[in-house]
Amino acid sequence: MRILSGIQPSGRLHIGNYFGMMEPAIRLQDEGEAFYFIANYHAMTSIHDPVALRENSRDLAVDFLACGLDPEKATFWRQADVPEVTELTWILSCVTPMGFLERCVSFKDKIAQGISSSHGLFAYPVLQAADILIFDSDIVPVGRDQKQHLELTRDVAQKFNDRYGDELLRIPEPRIREETATVPGLDGRKMSKSYNNTIDIFEETEKKLRKKIMKIVTDSTPVEAPKNPDGSYLVQLYELFASADALDEMKASYRAGGQGYGHYKQQLFEAIWSYFAPMRDKRAELIADPGYVDDVLESGAGRAREKARQVLDRVRQATGLAG
Ligand code: ADP
Ligand code: TRP
Repeated sequence: MRILSGIQPSGRLHIGNYFGMMEPAIRLQDEGEAFYFIANYHAMTSIHDPVALRENSRDLAVDFLACGLDPEKATFWRQADVPEVTELTWILSCVTPMGFLERCVSFKDKIAQGISSSHGLFAYPVLQAADILIFDSDIVPVGRDQKQHLELTRDVAQKFNDRYGDELLRIPEPRIREETATVPGLDGRKMSKSYNNTIDIFEETEKKLRKKIMKIVTDSTPVEAPKNPDGSYLVQLYELFASADALDEMKASYRAGGQGYGHYKQQLFEAIWSYFAPMRDKRAELIADPGYVDDVLESGAGRAREKARQVLDRVRQATGLAG
């Protein structure tokens, strides 16, 4: 089974990225042949500063490794180090009906967020389809917001196979974990950089993390009154970090009343800070050893390129571009 996923180096990682994509990807590396990459071609749609693109890519590599991506188990590389993917993008573009792209909500969302419109932004899902299809991927772990891109990938693969030959491209399955499909942000909307409502995995200091947690929006139920844990963002976030018993305790305490939200925020803060403690240590080690990170990415790109080449050769033959 081949598992593949990518993440854009578009800024600091938050716990929505972690539970939506990274943690499932890290767990899956024990279950099959894992392929994970830093989507720097994709990030060009929104980052136009070369220094920022390079540094973000590097920070993302460090952070993903710190969180548990194991280069002994998973192939890990920067997307643009496997340029074959852009050739497949063109080939797939020629079987992708315009209507498929016009239906994509992420393009409209990104324009609404102020990202400038470009052909790259519009064609973004075709590049994503190429990322997935060029590795004969079976499973793609992502957050729910990527569901439509995965459907498009499957539809494009099917179109290609209908035109050029059955089973030329493998049809992948998304893997979206329902319990963490959308991690709420500080204001209860989906946690996202673009909403400015994130809790970062690696907040610089305890103080900064605590300050953020204190900003979580709660209602005005008085301290002594019973509170409803269902639908509370604070409880939803706590669930990601706490044991089943600790979660039950918090819910019971909500229902009993007698504690203010500040008390629960403190509990959430402690749970998050200790959850990421081993990753912070690992991250400090990686930052001190930049050569190691470079080696991981370079050897990953070599392995990824070999696989990509095989599928691309098959596609070039089937389409009449080669042979
Ligand atoms: P952002 O919305 O902050 O820009 P990205 O779109 O770069 O985040 O998301 C990168 C990965 O993290 C994707 O697989 C996406 O589905 C996942 N992800 C992002 N935010 C969340 C969230 N709030 N809950 C679950 N998964 C998320
Ligand atoms: N579009 C994805 C995101 O914004 C990143 C991505 C690019 C990706 N290529 C991919 C995810 C291939 C899974 C598979 O998060």
